[in-house]
Amino acid sequence: MLTSTKTYAKLQQHAERIKQTNLRQLFETDASRANNFNVETNGLFIDYSRSLTDKKTLELLAELANELNLKQGISDLLSGEQVNPTEHRAALHTALRNIDNTPILVNSEDIMPLVNTALNKMYAFAEMVRAGEHIGYTGKPIRNVINIGIGGSSLGPEMAYEALKFYSNRKLTFRFISNVDPADFFEKTQDLDPEETLFIISSKTFTTDETMSNAFAAKSWLGEGADISKHFVAVSTNKQAVTDFGIDANNMFEFWDWVGGRYSLMSSIGLSLAIAIGKDNFEQLRAGANSIDQHFAKTEFSLNIPVLLGLLSVWYRNFLDFGTEAVLPYSQYLHRLPAYLQQASMESNGKSVSKDDQEINYNTAPILWGEPGTNGQHSFHQLLHQGTVTVAVDFIGFKQSLCDIDSQQAKLNANLLAQAEALAFGDTDNESIHKIVVGNKPSTIIVADKLTPYSLGQIIALYEHKIFVAGWIWDINSFDQFGVELGKKLAKGIIANNDTSANKLAEKLL
Ligand code: F6P
Repeated sequence: MLTSTKTYAKLQQHAERIKQTNLRQLFETDASRANNFNVETNGLFIDYSRSLTDKKTLELLAELANELNLKQGISDLLSGEQVNPTEHRAALHTALRNIDNTPILVNSEDIMPLVNTALNKMYAFAEMVRAGEHIGYTGKPIRNVINIGIGGSSLGPEMAYEALKFYSNRKLTFRFISNVDPADFFEKTQDLDPEETLFIISSKTFTTDETMSNAFAAKSWLGEGADISKHFVAVSTNKQAVTDFGIDANNMFEFWDWVGGRYSLMSSIGLSLAIAIGKDNFEQLRAGANSIDQHFAKTEFSLNIPVLLGLLSVWYRNFLDFGTEAVLPYSQYLHRLPAYLQQASMESNGKSVSKDDQEINYNTAPILWGEPGTNGQHSFHQLLHQGTVTVAVDFIGFKQSLCDIDSQQAKLNANLLAQAEALAFGDTDNESIHKIVVGNKPSTIIVADKLTPYSLGQIIALYEHKIFVAGWIWDINSFDQFGVELGKKLAKGIIANNDTSANKLAEKLL
């Protein structure tokens, strides 16, 4: 376990040294820092020179990774070992984008034929809808595509649709209904014609109450006598529940238990995205993610980006005691990325028991949050610069705009850089104490030339593996989520028979 490793004590000692210095001094004592503390792979550039580390820190973190056998962990993840011990499952989201089709075995069966069959079924259907050839029960072509799902069955497709809107079929309308709040369903359907609307019911279990409630609401919205086979398809692992709901098994797009919900975007859960951006762009998304998978599998730790970022997470969380990480994309298209990463990170690593059933005596996942820049600068950046907590920031930026207003893109990126500089170096030369910015706030800057399906795939895979690395060091199972079950159970009891002790409140609320 982390605190019983030999390297832990060395890192604790080293942290005291780092706390005595600051980023300004770190740059002054190592002139090569600005040009050396960065890594690049396939056009994705990571500048970690404003991290609160020095070369010794990075050496010790790599030593910790080796002492905890991270290399074996990476190999287990990518080869389909049961890295999810409580559910006796592999976590093979990398198989979804295994574009070389190298065999990957689950229960001694190569799963790649399954993956490719599901992908081809998804692409064939997507191309039909995109071509206006999917006709509703009154003969009108489908124009509206609504994904009904929640958590990993919504956050991924919605984030990626928003991120790749520039590449989407603008003749079609896409909506994402997730909340059981009837306002979500109402506001996302009130302006649409049921006869032109397709519902994608996305649910790995096909039992999630919010999703099933909205699925039944969709059925009644479609109206009596409507032929649901033309307006409903399902994405799930649970064929029986899909057919019980009334969707023909042929209209079900499958995925499997060895794909975690929050890691399922590149499975059939991405059906709405595939309809929006088409097969070629979806293949680019897979290729980008696969490039990071390859990098993750083959690159030595000192140049391995997900390893570096995951170890930085541990360094900030367990040795500098920072409680939160912010992801600030300087790209409006990525405005749903922080929400997506909240589930990816906090549902994966928000744990307090180790894989060998021991209570953990150290911190695990930080609170992850964020909003796009430059908007955050007019909202929470005050706290980042002068607050009493230090937030580890990930900036994400793109050199080129997709919308050819390059002068504004230059302004956007100047702001990104200015924020990183202000956080790192501050400005202590001011007569008023109220105007001093102390600086010494760390950030990592992730840059690609352009936001494309490929670079989005890289960013998604980068964070999936960063989360895995941190979870491995914390010796937790990043792939189960038992903590969410109690709330579901209590809600069922309250819904069924007002079963709650909060009487006064219950009178007000229920
Ligand atoms: O939040 C719990 C959870 O099980 C997530 O892990 C999952 O992404 C979400 O609910 C939805 O689950 P399903 O896809 O089975 O409806």
